[in-house]
Amino acid sequence: MNNLTPLTIFVSETHYYTSMFRSKIAGIGHFLPENIVTNKSLESVMETTDEWIQERTGIKERRWVIPGDGNTTSSMGTKAARKAIKNADLTPNDIDFIVFATLSPDYYFPGPGVMVQKELGIKEIGALDVRNQCSGFIYGLSVADQFIKTGMYKNILVIGSELHSGGLEKSIRGRGVSVIFGDGAGAVVLQKSENLETGILSTHLHAEGLHAEELALIGPSTGRWVPEIIETNDPEDTSYYPHMNGNFVFKHAIVRFSEVIMEALMANELKPEDIGILIPHQANLRISQFIQKQMSLTDDQVFNNIMHYGNTTAASIPIALSEAWQEGLITEDKIVCLAAFGSGFTWASALIRW
Ligand code: UT7
Repeated sequence: MNNLTPLTIFVSETHYYTSMFRSKIAGIGHFLPENIVTNKSLESVMETTDEWIQERTGIKERRWVIPGDGNTTSSMGTKAARKAIKNADLTPNDIDFIVFATLSPDYYFPGPGVMVQKELGIKEIGALDVRNQCSGFIYGLSVADQFIKTGMYKNILVIGSELHSGGLEKSIRGRGVSVIFGDGAGAVVLQKSENLETGILSTHLHAEGLHAEELALIGPSTGRWVPEIIETNDPEDTSYYPHMNGNFVFKHAIVRFSEVIMEALMANELKPEDIGILIPHQANLRISQFIQKQMSLTDDQVFNNIMHYGNTTAASIPIALSEAWQEGLITEDKIVCLAAFGSGFTWASALIRW
């Protein structure tokens, strides 16, 4: 195939498009705050046990920023971005667009994309903020993929970063959620692949708003502003903490993960055994293990690091991708499958030939 032959890229029976290029991940990096919070240390803060957390989630420890240590969602995203840019052998000024995925922005508005642009000292390029929670990184990657394929931009920074720890209810009431989430950031640089056979093969995005409130933070928001929360001063009001109907989310997650991975494989005429490495969003080790079993994947085919970082939402896939790459698990020609499910509900996958 030469550079003048358009590729026809199938997403599904009804969705396909043609492009002259593929995009590839040219650089990758991640950042984790230093402060390690073990399960054991949470035992004294809320009624929980290391045993319960490990058995139900697989998590042993997570990173939580220390208030005032200078880490914010955008600053952690910037640190991960600097590593990804360096890893791509570029400088910040080579970046011509930023996509930033998070559910925990520094401010209600503006979004953190512009903060990264300021920190990196990049002149007046566009910065897009993505609000798709656990699927946010793949949604962002998909948008960036389209921009590269049309030739609109050359080097796009895609960042996933979360600072959950400040907004968690660290008490018996909030323990079902707060033991799960961690802080951190990951980033990639996307650019045109010179080889039409390698790069992002396809991305697949889904949503089901019917279940929006099953995993959500309702207030403060336009539906419930801060003054109203303060005025009501109701000790039972938990609307300003994240709410998760854990069992319900779990049941949907295991179905949607498998569906969206199969969708990506089928769109590329591949089978589960062709997956070189599956990097699932790190929601719960039990979910990863369920998918692995259901798809008959070997231990070598599935990457998990939730044990050390908990669930870092939009940051979990780029952190895991970066670690897997650093560990030499992602090599040339390998099929890398990214898959996510989370609040919205949203779910997504991306298939990459490295
Ligand atoms: O990333 C976005 C997508 N998120 C997910 O996919 C998460 C999906 N859900 C899950 O991972 C699991 O549902 C959880 C890990 C959140 C919860 O596990 P579970 O096995 O569904 O437990 P549960 O919520 O049914 O709670 C079981 C018991 C309850 O006590 P009772 O009612 O049986 O007496 C809870 O109060 O465990 C209790 N519990 C805890 N005990 C100790 C809840 N949280 C804790 C805790 N420590 N931290």
